[in-house]
Amino acid sequence: MITSLSAGQTWDPVAYERNARFVADLGAPVVELLAPRPGEDVLDLGCGDGVLTERIAATGARVRGCDASVELIQAARARGLNVDWVDAHALPYSAEFDAVFSNAALHWMTRPAEVIAGVRRALRPGGRFVGEFGGFGNVAAVVTALIAVLDRRGMDGAAAKPWYNPTPEEYAVLEAHGLRVDEIRLIPRPTPLPTGMAGWLETFAEPFVRRLPEAERAAAIDEALHLLAPSLRDASGQWIADYVRLRFAARRA
Ligand code: BEZ
Repeated sequence: MITSLSAGQTWDPVAYERNARFVADLGAPVVELLAPRPGEDVLDLGCGDGVLTERIAATGARVRGCDASVELIQAARARGLNVDWVDAHALPYSAEFDAVFSNAALHWMTRPAEVIAGVRRALRPGGRFVGEFGGFGNVAAVVTALIAVLDRRGMDGAAAKPWYNPTPEEYAVLEAHGLRVDEIRLIPRPTPLPTGMAGWLETFAEPFVRRLPEAERAAAIDEALHLLAPSLRDASGQWIADYVRLRFAARRA
């Protein structure tokens, strides 16, 4: 089994490549918002297997990645990237980056004040913090179905939700930590799933599913798919997840 600093979720890089490649592909607008410049020092916070880190490096910026999953860090190193295995709640960097970038990772970091304080420390004065993650209402139908499946088995499904999905107003906590917000907004983004909802659940629903005895897991997943199909599967059979992104750009004062 995979070792990870991230509670409740393990990562299999092969399954991630199969089920979740779209996560990096859809991150292109966030790289555009970052607008990396040649020679800049950039930290990719929650870099995963490094696909976007590599794209940022291709602009000529000097990029360092960091992630809580040792398996994804190994996958990023295999791309020749400079990456650290760290807990984002205790970032070890001090005034060494012109920008901190993050795509589809901050919702896994459930103590945002600690993360933001570490980002501020990592930035040089005037440095940018640019990112996107699951905002308020993100995959709400999926979360509701997974909670229902656990509740029906006598468990507290809501307590299993591992994701931090703030409103823009809540994430203005950035300002309290010395980061001036230039822009912040929610972007609904219905997202076709290349391997369907079963593939998505295989990669991302572990924090819910692992609470069940192994023998009950397949039936629980089937039940979640049954609950979700009327809302998230279109007439052609394509599953479309109800993603809502929170996109922001801020800078250290
Ligand atoms: C997201 O990118 O929004 C996401 C990814 C995995 C689980 C939940 C949300």
